[in-house]
Amino acid sequence: MSQNQNSAGRAVISSTGLFTPGETITNEELVESYNRYVEIFNADNAQAIAAGEVAELQPSSVEFIEKASGIKARHVMTKAPILDPETMAPRMRERSNDEPSVMAEIGVKAARDALERAGRDVADVDAVLCAASNMERAYPAMAIEIQQELGIDGFAFDMNVACSSATFGIQTAADYIRAGNARSVLVVSPEVTSGHLNWRDRDSHFIFGDVATAVLVEDAEMAPAEHWDILGTRLKTVFSNNIRNNFGFLNRASPEGEGKPDKLFVQEGRKVFKEVVPMVAEMIVTEAERLGIDPQALRRLWLHQANAGMNRLIAQRVLGHEASADESPTVLDTYANTSSAGSIIAFHKHHEDLSAGDTGLICSFGAGYSAGAVFVRKVG
Ligand code: COA
Repeated sequence: MSQNQNSAGRAVISSTGLFTPGETITNEELVESYNRYVEIFNADNAQAIAAGEVAELQPSSVEFIEKASGIKARHVMTKAPILDPETMAPRMRERSNDEPSVMAEIGVKAARDALERAGRDVADVDAVLCAASNMERAYPAMAIEIQQELGIDGFAFDMNVACSSATFGIQTAADYIRAGNARSVLVVSPEVTSGHLNWRDRDSHFIFGDVATAVLVEDAEMAPAEHWDILGTRLKTVFSNNIRNNFGFLNRASPEGEGKPDKLFVQEGRKVFKEVVPMVAEMIVTEAERLGIDPQALRRLWLHQANAGMNRLIAQRVLGHEASADESPTVLDTYANTSSAGSIIAFHKHHEDLSAGDTGLICSFGAGYSAGAVFVRKVG
């Protein structure tokens, strides 16, 4: 536990870390496997389809996926079972209680990357938040497992705000620092989204990819010379049924629900698009003005990575003009939607070229609905 607990600090981002799984699935590979599944399903159900009892499945298309979303490929933890038309889901060996969980393992990799980049000794870290859209188990917390793996003396807990988990985690960490309850907090987002994506659903089978990110939020007084001041944060939630995942510990209490597709990710993509774009743009502009920041002067937007069209519209409304790739970088093409990790990957990969004094915005949005904005300025 570091010194000076309970004296208020100024929160900054000291560094970020990234773990990218080695395996990739291109749209071509994904569509080939999906369409094979469709052929098998339609052949197996030919009679019922002819009798009008079962709906014939339609093939997916590479062109549609890229045009509708901007996604070209995704990283995954286990490629072969996802592409096997008989399985179409990730397959991972069940770990014993003596081994790290999958989420802890990849979270630790991202966390070590962040610690190394900041030159931070783990002895100086006070807390770990595991902020992600799904947890591998109920307890003990994945965050405490990550804390244990890293050898951190302090406290840790899991938090889930779907796609906005990381930005909500950053504000939570910043609040601990501002209140003097911690000086150095790791916000870790291991997103094994392949486990909650329905790879047999044509409308969404292309959406997600796996990754882990980490953000080291610290008191400015202990941060490395080069860091990002957190100028302000704003969180917002508005209830919506348009993105749901009904998997939960009470599912076994209602066996009639078992195996239904709502126990995986489901969404009304069009409605999400239409409702979330204005909500997020309005939140960003209002908060920027409250902080005395001209939204049109933001040097870069590291937006949530769900859909290229959504980002284009949000960036346009915030900046007042069509954003260039330099102003609103994308990682959708190679990572797809990685839930809460997306805006952090964009920041991690696209911040080094900015100059001291440049102001930018990390912003997430997704299920809940939930949205989080973190305004940052480069120092050093
Ligand atoms: N391959 C080919 N065609 C497909 C298809 C696929 N995989 N999936 C759907 N289509 C077809 C539909 O059948 C429909 O055809 P029709 O017009 O003949 O009925 C057409 O494409 C449009 O489908 P729709 O679902 O309305 O597509 P869309 O343009 O809304 O794009 C999303 C779908 C999911 C990419 C888009 O809605 C989106 O990204 N929304 C926001 C999602 C989001 O951010 N969610 C948060 C997750 S955390």
